[in-house]
Amino acid sequence: MINKVPSTKQNIPAKASQTLIDQFGRTVDYIRLSITDRCDFRCVYCMAEEMTFLPRNEVLSLEECARLVKVFVSLGVSKVRITGGEPLVRKNALWLFETIGKLDGLNELVLTTNGSQLEKQAQDLKNAGVKRINISVDSLNPERFKKITRTGELDKVLRGIQAAKLAGFENIKLNTVLMRGVNDDEALSLLDFAIAQKIDISFIEEMPLGDVDHSRESSFCSNTDTLKMLQSKHTLTASAETTGGPARYWRVANTETRVGFISPHSHNFCESCNRVRITCKGELYLCLGQEDKVDLMPLLRDHPENDQPLIDAILSSMAIKPKGHDFDLKRAEPAVIRFMSHTGG
Ligand code: 5AD
Ligand code: SF4
Repeated sequence: MINKVPSTKQNIPAKASQTLIDQFGRTVDYIRLSITDRCDFRCVYCMAEEMTFLPRNEVLSLEECARLVKVFVSLGVSKVRITGGEPLVRKNALWLFETIGKLDGLNELVLTTNGSQLEKQAQDLKNAGVKRINISVDSLNPERFKKITRTGELDKVLRGIQAAKLAGFENIKLNTVLMRGVNDDEALSLLDFAIAQKIDISFIEEMPLGDVDHSRESSFCSNTDTLKMLQSKHTLTASAETTGGPARYWRVANTETRVGFISPHSHNFCESCNRVRITCKGELYLCLGQEDKVDLMPLLRDHPENDQPLIDAILSSMAIKPKGHDFDLKRAEPAVIRFMSHTGG
């Protein structure tokens, strides 16, 4: 049984009187919150084959997640992405979506998922107020899909995509991590699939997060090459559109599809960074590629009725938001030891 989120009305002004602006003048209005480090998949670029997950009491409760989101929204955050691990494998995740979906001031509630649970949950998520949804798909070949995810069933994810289309989200986007020699030959067929489904697709360069058992340098697949490959069949026009994230978009002529490129290596997106990440342990990471963080869990747990210490910590964290990430493919050690499933994509 889930208790109601404790009311924080006394402590929080209805409208943001303070906003989050860092030392470089960037306004933070977007948070990405990981609600679990667990996942039913074990994607090769994301997890080790054998993973040890966090014990339950080290992970924020859903009530704590809701309280955090409410505080951030009171500080001017208008967009929240729920990620994981796989957020939809968390028990009662829907309660969180329903609760934060009702917050005044939150304009965009969005979700990143591997799609495995969407067949069951897409409609409820839409009804809870989820506007847009990103679904990770790295291959349309069932065997290869299994190889990349180690445990995933492509069919189930494809049914999840259909369920998401029927539910009527404002936007559905596929996320594809392309790896040289693994799935880089599928860029065109994945784009053609997105076109046929009338949805968007983003190609993501693999980021050196966590220690995996392949060389990031040799699997690296530059978005510049991917773009060239797609242009061999389609006319792509650069677009100034943004969805508030780091992707740069191109429109595919005569289709409804946009192609996004997320290029942490070949295109530095840090100067317009408007977001921070919160791990499922309540660590506020100011940058995906840096270690600077503030632990919010003790503040949540030590002050269950008073949001002020939390607000103060979040406001002062802006002073340590780094200028940019520091990814380097040639380094033997990963730049950042934590996995994406820990920090949230
Ligand atoms: N590099 C790039 N993308 C990654 N993802 C997970 N780990 C990595 C990584 N090391 C992607 C997933 C998903 C999104 C949340 O992040 O495929 O699409
Ligand atoms: Fe799970 Fe996503 Fe990581 Fe794959 S990339 S293991 S689906 S969290």
